[in-house]
Amino acid sequence: MNPFKLERYFEKWEFQAPYLLCSSDNETLPVKDLLALADEESLDLWENLDLGYTHVTGHPMLKKEIAQLYSQVDENGICTFAGAGEGIYAVLSLLVNKGDHVLAPFPCYQSLRDLPRSKGAEVSLYPIRETSEGWRFELEDLIQVLRPDTCLIILNFPHNPTGAHIERETLEQIVAYARRSHAYIFSDEVYRFSEHEGPATPPAADLYERAISLGVMSKSFGLAGLRVGWLATQDKAILEQCMNFKCYMSLCNSAPSEILALMALRAKEKILDRNLAIIRKNLDILDTFFSAYRDMFSWKRPKAGSTTFPKLLAQRSIEDFSQELIAKAGVLLLPGSVYDYPGNHFRLGFGRENLPVALGHLERFLKDYR
Ligand SMILES: Cc1ncc(COP(=O)(O)O)c(C=O)c1O
Repeated sequence: MNPFKLERYFEKWEFQAPYLLCSSDNETLPVKDLLALADEESLDLWENLDLGYTHVTGHPMLKKEIAQLYSQVDENGICTFAGAGEGIYAVLSLLVNKGDHVLAPFPCYQSLRDLPRSKGAEVSLYPIRETSEGWRFELEDLIQVLRPDTCLIILNFPHNPTGAHIERETLEQIVAYARRSHAYIFSDEVYRFSEHEGPATPPAADLYERAISLGVMSKSFGLAGLRVGWLATQDKAILEQCMNFKCYMSLCNSAPSEILALMALRAKEKILDRNLAIIRKNLDILDTFFSAYRDMFSWKRPKAGSTTFPKLLAQRSIEDFSQELIAKAGVLLLPGSVYDYPGNHFRLGFGRENLPVALGHLERFLKDYR
């Protein structure tokens, strides 16, 4: 299997670089703050929790709470996993066979593209494009690579790393195309609920009987350490296979994490409102920063998610620039090359409270650099 470039980069730097400016998740919560948000019932579960095995498909109360995030999927259409990563691994291992034709976005979180390739599928990439209005997905780009034998369409909106989003009508059009050829849709929706304005992105699982939506506590909720993700689908047969797959992997989620996830979902408005307030404040700060440094970077404010994909305009490569930045200022950026993206783009994350501090260190570095 190819090295997972993004995750290996983080493994090297995440706990070494003092100022992370490329994280993919929102601000987290200490356990004591989450417990302070908890309702009486889940607090009681927490205090009397046994640390034995848990249900393979997830704690029934947690599944019920997750199902509230969908209109056409009930708790029987939910299976929890160890983070989103394990859910991706299960779905793509089960749905993809040698010789299949699969569509995936470019750039994208590496496993969405490389797992189907590792199964021997032909993966056609449709671009997320940089336009004068920012990063956009165009339906035409997907249609151009769609074939009558395409058996799986992989989506990721809001998109990592660009922050591109999708409108409901466009998603409905993709569903119509998928339905014609009986193709599955696997929709990575880990950034759902991080839309900066307007309603949350509609989950594909609500729109199509052969869609599987992927959700997680890691990104919009800022609770990556729980390692609680899930698949949501109307397709009970595929869910059953995914559940069987989980028996060979993590088997069941961590008992404390399930209850903490339940508490967080029951307090979702408070947590998401706080995280969106941080995102909006950070975006205003980035607006000021990038207009002051428009000779060095090109950037358009995204509409969703907590990552963005600006470009360094210098002659120097983004890898060299990032290395010097870590060495001299302790600030971590993520070069676009970890997504195999050519040129000088880099990922910047703006979901965390300390963005102004990290940006201050970048700015001091840039003043000397200029
Ligand atoms: C688009 C996308 N999908 C899935 C994942 C995996 O999430 P998790 O860390 O919860 O497994 C990530 C993590 O960065 C991601 O960005």
